[in-house]
Amino acid sequence: MIFWRVKSLDAILATAEKKSLQRTLGAWQLTLLGVGAIIGTGIFVLTAEAAQKAGPGMMLSFVIASFVCIVAALCYSELSSMVPVSGSAYTYSYAVLGELVAWLVGWALMLEYSVAASAVAVGWSGYFVGLLDHSLGIKIPFALANGPFAGGIINLPAIFVCILVVGLLVIGTRESAQFNAVLVAIKIAILTLFIALTLPVADIENFQPFLPLGEVGVVAAASSIFFAYVGFDAVSTAAEETKNPQRNVPIGLISSLMICTVFYLLISMGAIGAIGAQPVLDAAGKGLAPGSLALAEQCQSLTTAGQQPLVCSREALALVLREIGWEKIGNLLGLTAFLALPSVVLMMLFGQTRIFFVMSRDGLLPEVLSRIHPRFKTPHIVTYMTGLGVTIAAAFLPVGKLADISNSGTLFAFMVVAFAVMILRVKDKHRVRPFRAPGIWLVGPLAVVGCITLFLFLPTDAKLVFPIWSGIGLIFYFLYGYRKSHVARGIDIAAGGEDIISQVRPLVDCHHDNSPPRNKD
Ligand code: ALA
Repeated sequence: MIFWRVKSLDAILATAEKKSLQRTLGAWQLTLLGVGAIIGTGIFVLTAEAAQKAGPGMMLSFVIASFVCIVAALCYSELSSMVPVSGSAYTYSYAVLGELVAWLVGWALMLEYSVAASAVAVGWSGYFVGLLDHSLGIKIPFALANGPFAGGIINLPAIFVCILVVGLLVIGTRESAQFNAVLVAIKIAILTLFIALTLPVADIENFQPFLPLGEVGVVAAASSIFFAYVGFDAVSTAAEETKNPQRNVPIGLISSLMICTVFYLLISMGAIGAIGAQPVLDAAGKGLAPGSLALAEQCQSLTTAGQQPLVCSREALALVLREIGWEKIGNLLGLTAFLALPSVVLMMLFGQTRIFFVMSRDGLLPEVLSRIHPRFKTPHIVTYMTGLGVTIAAAFLPVGKLADISNSGTLFAFMVVAFAVMILRVKDKHRVRPFRAPGIWLVGPLAVVGCITLFLFLPTDAKLVFPIWSGIGLIFYFLYGYRKSHVARGIDIAAGGEDIISQVRPLVDCHHDNSPPRNKD
């Protein structure tokens, strides 16, 4: 029975012990890594989509999405402190729920990371186009900066940033811890300025009507804005590069999420208070779907008529500042997004290749795909393959749809992690838990129910992509992984097999050197 193909926790830990990634990251660096991966297109761009779904009630959507992430993060923290190895949700599921579920989680994580990379690339494109226009007066034709769903033909800037990031990953560029810290500092500084400039001019009138599309709109917006919080799990994928991971990974996960939650609430309050956030409605008074052609057309006619509603903007936060008279700071915010979002694309694509690697280490994916470039020491084949898919998606699909699709995979992975923690509490009561999620019998079920609820409120197309993607994954599993699985074939890396991960570069390069990581064996 494949459900009983469970990899023992001890075997996983032994594998990690044998591995050679240097443990260089501390709690503070992990927190910065988390904030660096979290703050991106979600807050800079999708605030507009959330407003289109919920109006000013999107503040509640931010609260709901952050609540689901916080309970999920507590579950992640417990598991990552017990099993501080690469692969995060995939690895935990392998140890608790067996190979089939682990495969599905790994497959869902691919959806999460690659589609998120596309979404962030499209978000970057909006800021790039706006920045060129407002700072240099250069206008990129609408049709060449938007995919067909948004009324254009192709999103050339998004293609450009995807190719750039794939190139950087192939030649072995990593976020250095210092570079990440600088980017995080810039993001935090500009967002703090945003809050400081918008809150004082907030007008209570702009919060009325608070729920123009009802409670349903609020939950639907939460399902989409959930994307803004995704990325904290990147902290757990760096567990093998962390000093004292039992202590530092939970701190990194929870504090990065808390910092972003506080910022997001203040930012949404400032944006709504400053210029309002009412949705664009159709003739029947219903909200037009974000990312739809109908909304794109309606927005174009509003823009032609000289109106600039928040919900129509592709650079929502910059628009708010420009509208309240801070044109130059708006441009500066645009510049920040322009500089910082590519690093989020990089983190997402990197996360994807890392998941791929762990699955290939377990024999569930062909090792030939994760072959390492002889000179750059990077998994160039998988990076090119993923990069191609990410680039095509970014070229043609709108940011909101991509974010929703990515969310569907993420929500599944989070839900499985919550189940895994609860099952392990029963099955393996006495194992040492350096971090125990408080009130697990409340936190765990809340995480599961939260993830299922947000999934159900996603738009239908995003909901459909997930089962189709999983179906393809299952076919692939039964054709390949089922037979090749190392667990099934009794291959044990810890007992002497080669560990492919030890040959590649770590997530965060603290030393700026170009040599592959040292092997401590
Ligand atoms: N949370 C990340 C973003 O918003 C993925 O871009």
